[in-house]
Amino acid sequence: MLRTAILGVGHYAPSKVVTNHDLAKILSTSDEWIVQRTGIRERRYIEHDGIGSSDLAVPAVHAALDRAGVALSEVDALIFATLSPDAFFPGTGCFLQTKLGLRGIPALDIRNQCSGFLYGLSIADAWIRAGMYKRIVLVGAEVHSTGLDFTDEGRDVTVLFGDGAGAVVLGPTDEPDRGVQAIALHADGSGATDLWIEAPSSRCSPSRITHAMLDERRQYTRMNGKQVFRWATEKMPESALATLHAAGKTVADVDLFIPHQANLRINEFVARKLEIPPEKVVTTIDRYGNTTAASIPLSLSEAVGDGRAKPGSLVLFSAFGSGYTWGAAVVRL
Ligand code: ACO
Repeated sequence: MLRTAILGVGHYAPSKVVTNHDLAKILSTSDEWIVQRTGIRERRYIEHDGIGSSDLAVPAVHAALDRAGVALSEVDALIFATLSPDAFFPGTGCFLQTKLGLRGIPALDIRNQCSGFLYGLSIADAWIRAGMYKRIVLVGAEVHSTGLDFTDEGRDVTVLFGDGAGAVVLGPTDEPDRGVQAIALHADGSGATDLWIEAPSSRCSPSRITHAMLDERRQYTRMNGKQVFRWATEKMPESALATLHAAGKTVADVDLFIPHQANLRINEFVARKLEIPPEKVVTTIDRYGNTTAASIPLSLSEAVGDGRAKPGSLVLFSAFGSGYTWGAAVVRL
């Protein structure tokens, strides 16, 4: 049976480290508050103006291709997941394609925030199993730092997010039991404004954003943190269990649990609910913060790098984010 395998994974994070102590110099916050509520100790920001998500994606893609032993010329489709695109349009995948020196192959952008990587994996899996493409690069990349509100009004959100990128190279395999075993995707738009950026917006005439809106800081992320926490801790375990069941696996079969890195407390809660022991849970949020669409491939890449994820490992991915969107995937490496 033809399945979709992860052939290689890579990540990239900009070199500028911003600690909680750095943020406490400009916001009314503290290292203690941030660590206690989120588990984050530091995050990365782009070094200077002019660097977009597509720029962070380039080294992540090259690292993934190297690990896969796949040449750039073999790539026949690109999928780019981000909520911080280089431009309102065209899609960031088109900018990435040119920066990689590729032409002609499709470049698809998806906007499913923290679940973007799993939505992208599902699309790539369908394309590969249908025989449409053989070497797909799926990237999640975010530049959050240029869109954070560095006043006390935005401190609840600002301390959470960081910049980074992760990429995988996907291709068909007929090795028994290897590859994507099951994926589940979900959304519930009734929570759309619990975590969103309102403007610029096509609903806003004229000019999509007004001076008044800027003065009201409506260009920044607004979050109902408690609601997000409640939904995430319910939906992540629910979809993870259903996806394991669909794959014919149980929690005991899982070698590694790689949840989206939104908040350490959410992930600890979810792991406890699933009865997955801490040593099987991958945590990177302490060093990168929430990198949204990048967080799962970035965490997988680190786990491959430090030897925790190996050929044959059964990995459970789980995500929840703005939309609301959520999902899970079970993949044998
Ligand atoms: N530093 C210091 N104090 C802060 C900060 C900050 N950065 N942010 C908020 N506070 C204050 C609040 O103003 C409030 O003060 P008050 O009691 O005087 O009113 C107090 O801290 C408590 O605020 P709450 O919002 O009640 O804090 P809570 O315990 O809910 O924690 C948090 C906030 C961490 C955001 C939590 O709600 C949470 O984890 N939510 C999940 C949301 C999440 O993880 N989002 C990530 C993006 S979504 C995703 O990727 C899935």
